[in-house]
This record gives sequence, C-alpha cells and structure tokens, in this order.
Amino acid sequence: MTAIASVKGRRVWDSRGHPTVEVEVTLETGAVGRAIAPAGASRGTREAIDLRDGGTALRGKGVARALASVTDTIAPALVGRDVTDQAGADATILGLDTSPLKETLGGNATVATSLAILHAAAADARQPLWRHVANHYGTTPSLPLPEIQIFGGGAHAGRRVDIQDFMIMVPGATTFDEVMEVTNEVYFAAGDIMARRGKLAGVADEGGWWPSFDSNEEALETLVEAISLAGETPGDRVIISLDIAASEFGKQGRYRLALEDREMDSGQLVDMLGGWLKSYPIASIEDPVGEDDPEGMAEFTRRHGADVQIIGDDYLVTNARLVEEAAAAGACNAVLIKVNQAGTVTESVQTFEAAAKAGFGAVVSARSGETEDVSISHLSTGLGGGQLKVGSFTRSERMAKWNECLRFQDDLGAGAFVGGAPLAATWWGRKNKEDAA
Ligand code: PGA
Ligand code: ZN
Repeated sequence: MTAIASVKGRRVWDSRGHPTVEVEVTLETGAVGRAIAPAGASRGTREAIDLRDGGTALRGKGVARALASVTDTIAPALVGRDVTDQAGADATILGLDTSPLKETLGGNATVATSLAILHAAAADARQPLWRHVANHYGTTPSLPLPEIQIFGGGAHAGRRVDIQDFMIMVPGATTFDEVMEVTNEVYFAAGDIMARRGKLAGVADEGGWWPSFDSNEEALETLVEAISLAGETPGDRVIISLDIAASEFGKQGRYRLALEDREMDSGQLVDMLGGWLKSYPIASIEDPVGEDDPEGMAEFTRRHGADVQIIGDDYLVTNARLVEEAAAAGACNAVLIKVNQAGTVTESVQTFEAAAKAGFGAVVSARSGETEDVSISHLSTGLGGGQLKVGSFTRSERMAKWNECLRFQDDLGAGAFVGGAPLAATWWGRKNKEDAA
C-alpha cells in the first residue's frame, strides 16, 4: 500500500476562459497525480452538478466553494488511505455527499479528485495512466476509434444551427495515425468550401467550424461534399456521425428547430432524422431525442438500432443503472462516458462495464469546456475496445488528447487500433463485410 499524503485543490482556467478545479494528490513516496475538471454547456439534467459560486464575479462561475469541498471535506477523509484502492477512495467521496447529483461537494470537486488519485497510483507504479488502468481493471488496451467534429452547432456555436455536432469517423482506417491524416483533409476541405460560399463564421467551442448555414441539412450536404473533396467516397472509409443533442431544442416531446422555424413532435423528429439516415452516410447518432422522451428513444432505436449506433449522452448521463434500464427498454445501443457526468472514476468504469454487459458501445468523451488534461485519452485506451470523442481538429485542448493517443501508438504498436470494430454492427460494418467477401 502507498498512502495518500495530501490532496490539494487549485483554481485553474478552462478552454472557454472560465475557472475550474484542479486537484493534486501527493503520496508518501513523493509520487504526484493531477487532474482538472472539465465543464459542459449542453448538460443533462441528471448529471453530477458543477458547484459554482454564483453572484456576479467571474460570471457566477467561481469555484471557491468546490475548492473548499476539496480542502475541508474530501482531503481529511482521504489522507492516509491506500492510493491503489480507487473504489474505496471513490466510495469514501460518495459517502461524504449523499445528495443524488453531488451538489453538496460538487461534481467538479469529486471528478478532479477521483482522477487525480488514479494518476497518482499510476505515477507511483511508474506506469503511464493507460497501462495502469488496464492493469487495475483487467482490460485489454487498444487505441480508440475517434469521433471528430467538423462543424459545431447548438449550444457550442450560439445556436447558429440547431444540431450540435457534425462529425466524421474513419472506421475504414487501419491506424490511428491514418484517422488524423484523413481528418485533416476533410476538416480543411470543409473550411475551403464554406469560405468560398461565405458560410464560414468562425470556430465553435470545440474547434469545429462555426457555420452560417441556412438549414441543418445544408450542413450535412456540405459535409458530404467536404469528404468527397478530400478524395474520399462518403460512407466508404469515412462516415458521418451526428450529436443531435435534442434536449437543447426540445422538452416533453415538443421540438423546435429555430434555424428552419419548424416545430415538431417526437414522431416528426424521429421521421426527419430517419430521412437523414436514408440520404446521408450516417452510421452513428447521439441523443436523437430529448432526455425526457423515452418513447421517442425506444421508437428511434426500434427503427434504426440494427443499422446505426445510437448513443445516449444527456439521455444516459454515464449512469450504469440508466444503461441497464435503457437496454431493458430497447432504447439506445451505445453510451457516452463522461467522467464528470458520473463524478468519479469508479462510477464511470461501472457504466463502461454495464455497457459491455448490455452489448452497448462505449464512447469516452470530453466536454465542450476542456483543458490540457488528457486523462480521457488514457481511460479510453486503457479500458479498450472503444471510441473517443474530444471535439474537433484544432485548439490545443482538443489536439492534446489526439496527440496523446499517438504517443500510446508508439508503445502499443499501430496494430492496437480498434478500427471499425465498434461500428461492426451497423450498416457500415455489413457493407464492409460484403466488400471484403
Ligand atoms: P457539453 O456537450 O460538454 O457541452 O455538454 C458535449 C456533448 O453533448 O457531447
Ligand atoms: Zn452529446
């Protein structure tokens, strides 16, 4: 056993310039682990609460209270404990906050502490975090299949388009490095097309182009064009992935697409998205309906679950019980894993395990407010078999996470890339099998 000697909080700043919580865990051996809490903008109502100070200073986003949770409550309970007992440390943290959404301590305080403990244990074992994760949880590491944003929308781009993420995946690539190369070509091809047409308004929160399109479908058409301009056949090596983030524009089964001045009910939204799935090479879609629309999610999954990956983000909030319930109800077939939605490493890994048990895919994900912290690259690689979503292909808080995976590639070998396996059960997987036969 190696005991935790100190747990210290520090205010640092995220990619949107807002304050956030960093925690540093030092062990009796001198090993140090550090992690920073990210922050969402399109948050699920059932995810762990970021504790913020409120008031007018720092736009109400101060983290003095969250830092006080670390110093006054969490640190005294953890000092002296065995750093390798991640589950025990997380259970202790949970015991200090019995509120359902961690509003007493703050999910920002708990997630930074929990991840810092994991980092400290890895440092003490003189191992990279991904290898420590694989050893600790008995998993087989592999380099994840990335989901990379080309256009940002929704809450990440002033709601200029309603749909939040227009992304690509490169399941037909044979190495992680090849994914980066193809993404570079598609990203800049998209920018060129938009600039030429006067549709380029800037760069959105996660580094994707901030578009000034006239309809949500114009984004899809432009993305298909960009894939072609990059020399690819859309739907072949490269597919489209969408995060609809429908909770951002709909409640209680009523949805409003502001860009097109259209109101619709859940059935009409499901029909509209079904039409997109027919017309465009989309193999993955996230939160197609709102977090409060279980009938819509079950209906969408009944219609399209055998063809596309359907990811629950706001819908499942990295909660193992919600994954089990969704599987029983025939809703979704994949889950987004955001460590700060759950609030601790242990709960996130439990959700990852619940997904595997339910036959769900798992996509480890960043938030729209991020930092130089690259823990999720390690988690996704260490747990293995999965996918990684960290935003776009610019801005260092995003690129740091892709670049970190390239370092793992040197250790693990290029053959450790999971490739198209996570999409094997979709139309893309079937088409690929046929092509190979
Ligand atoms: P958020 O969005 O981090 O702003 O909540 C990311 C997502 O919806 O996947
Ligand atoms: Zn999402």
